[in-house]
Amino acid sequence: MTAQIIDGKKIAAEIQEELTGRIARITDGGSPPGLAVVLVGEDPASVSYVTAKERDCEKVGIRSFDMRLPESTTETELLELVDRLNGDDQVDGILVQLPLPKHVDSNRVLQRIDPAKDVDGFHPLSLGRMMLGLPSLLPCTPHGVVQMLTRTGHDPSGKNVVIIGRSNIVGKPLASLLTLKQAGGNATVTVCHSRTPEIASHTRNADIVIAAIGSARFLTADMVKPGVVVIDVGVNRVDDPTAKRGYRLVGDVDYDAVAEKASAITPVPGGVGPMTRTMLLHNTVIAAERRRNFTEAS
Ligand code: GUN
Repeated sequence: MTAQIIDGKKIAAEIQEELTGRIARITDGGSPPGLAVVLVGEDPASVSYVTAKERDCEKVGIRSFDMRLPESTTETELLELVDRLNGDDQVDGILVQLPLPKHVDSNRVLQRIDPAKDVDGFHPLSLGRMMLGLPSLLPCTPHGVVQMLTRTGHDPSGKNVVIIGRSNIVGKPLASLLTLKQAGGNATVTVCHSRTPEIASHTRNADIVIAAIGSARFLTADMVKPGVVVIDVGVNRVDDPTAKRGYRLVGDVDYDAVAEKASAITPVPGGVGPMTRTMLLHNTVIAAERRRNFTEAS
């Protein structure tokens, strides 16, 4: 079987195209949508994510406010910055890049963000509203995964979906979205994690497997049934002396072998990553429209 490659870059470009008219309308109203991106420290992966997010903003006409703080920043200083951004009229969305340094309580910082500006969708109010099926700013990776499935003819409705990973930013909110009684939902969802015995006994029954555990090539071909649809959320650096940077990015899926058995699969890079970044732009546009009392905000 030759698997369909679900091209995250292409779907992301389509969604960005759909956003351009909305961004123009907001900008014509007086000021462009604004996104503040807060990075504490210099973790190389975080630096590259944040740089990419700022580049995306520039491309589509969202103004980005680049806030880079030293690793030694205290929790109080960070909370003060969030307060200032909450009150800044030019800022429609606030993203605090995770992970934060160990001396900072991430939950306190995330809960300080005004829910109206919570473009990551990590605030308890955003998550609660999502779980109830109420309009909310959806977490970017889970929303991106659902968009990838629905836009490529793999509606999760009625399907057995297995998610590997129970993080607050992917596994748990994704399980919630996929079980909602609405478009993009209606799936039967199993969440596997580090304490699940025999993960393969679950994944072998799955129509759709979503790997989000952060372990390179964890999902192997013997763990899936023929015709499965596979979404790989993982981004892992593995040493590669032949690569210019000395490492290569691989997902949580043993791509070559699983692609031989699957009916559709996402690559890494070029799969979920561009979708996550694009849903952040989407959320920033929604937040900007709502803050300006524009009607259509979906
Ligand atoms: N770190 C890894 N993924 C994410 C994300 O989606 N948002 C934020 N803020 N930090 C992250």
